[in-house]
Amino acid sequence: MEPSLPRPDGGFSTRAVKGSVILPDVQQAPVSAGIWLSSTWGADRSADVGELLLDEQPGYVYGRYDNPTATTLHGVIASLHDAPAAWSLASGTAAIHATLDVLRGTGRILATEQIYGGTWALLRRMERDAGWGVDHAPLATADQLAAALTEDHTVVHVESVANPSMVVTDLPALAEVCRERGVALVVDNTFASPWLCRPYELGATAVVESATKFLGGHGDVVAGVVAGDAPLIDAVRRHTYELGASLGAFEAWLILRGVQTLSLRVRQASASALAIATALERDPRTEVVRYPGLAAHPQHALATGLFAGRGYGALVAFDLPGRDQAEAFADACSVFVRASSLGGTHSLVLHPGSTSHRQLDAASLASAGLRPGTVRLSIGIEDVEDLLADLQQALATAMPDVTSSVTVPAGGVDP
Ligand SMILES: Cc1ncc(COP(=O)(O)O)c(C=O)c1O
Repeated sequence: MEPSLPRPDGGFSTRAVKGSVILPDVQQAPVSAGIWLSSTWGADRSADVGELLLDEQPGYVYGRYDNPTATTLHGVIASLHDAPAAWSLASGTAAIHATLDVLRGTGRILATEQIYGGTWALLRRMERDAGWGVDHAPLATADQLAAALTEDHTVVHVESVANPSMVVTDLPALAEVCRERGVALVVDNTFASPWLCRPYELGATAVVESATKFLGGHGDVVAGVVAGDAPLIDAVRRHTYELGASLGAFEAWLILRGVQTLSLRVRQASASALAIATALERDPRTEVVRYPGLAAHPQHALATGLFAGRGYGALVAFDLPGRDQAEAFADACSVFVRASSLGGTHSLVLHPGSTSHRQLDAASLASAGLRPGTVRLSIGIEDVEDLLADLQQALATAMPDVTSSVTVPAGGVDP
């Protein structure tokens, strides 16, 4: 039976306003979090408002600071990364910006050159307009890091699996170098997700993720998260509300809904991605196929250790002879959607050189591991037979002179 509520006093309009926030006192556990859309919060005393704004007492005060739905999200993200604390922001880019800005202090940032184009553009802009010091180098191994790190660097930024070169970073080795040199290590874990890889457990100072991707998982929200020690997250929190980059309650709720099925989705997509990468590798029309689950991938053993048998992820990159074939291939796909982003239920196809990495100049594109004919696939949760058939007909359209067939590998594709 529905609980009865007190009635508000006053005239018609007053009762309409006041009655709209008379809440039932719900004591039962819901199976879905509430979406707290309140942009501001009442306090018992006038002085409380100031104290809340100054962090002198716990509680909610204004929607740009935080909201209870986001608090639930922070708890689950910290738990999945086994980190003391987490925070959410309006996008993955905002999470990277805030985390690097807090950690850099007065020093320079050393960022991998195998990097998402948007992060490359963000660092470029901050260098040009905000006086950040930024250097790029290959940073997949401890030796590469040791060779590039100088006294001027205060923070190192890498991707656990690089977008879209699929280079897997030796995170434990990098964390050791950073610890010895007293430098912070920030890991963008967007491609892996916490199901596959938990950089904080491996020694990273902070993990950043575009929650737009696997955490949300349904292509319906843009968000970012960061996980790390409590003082760092507190600094990121202040940075976030001062710059106005907090995550709204509805967006936080969408991530909370997505995160519940994260492991199921990534397991399914990983199984399909392995089947697809195996088929593409056998196909004479493709050149290099980049997927950490393939024995031929240069960091296959490292990925097997880091991901501990949980799969190798949903992203597959491969090279066709040139840009014309890559674009003809993408144009011919009908199950795969031609779109940016990744990590959702729908399979997507992308020519990174002209889209996600369009900001990079020719030299940076080459050092990011992209060739003119590089194609990136984000595998969703559709039936793998349909995905393989789509790839087969798209390859046949793009390269009609070479015959082959992309087939489901022997042994099936069970997750
Ligand atoms: C590896 C990686 N990091 C960060 C981002 C940025 O995320 P957002 O678009 O949520 O700002 C992306 C977006 O594609 C990405 O692929």
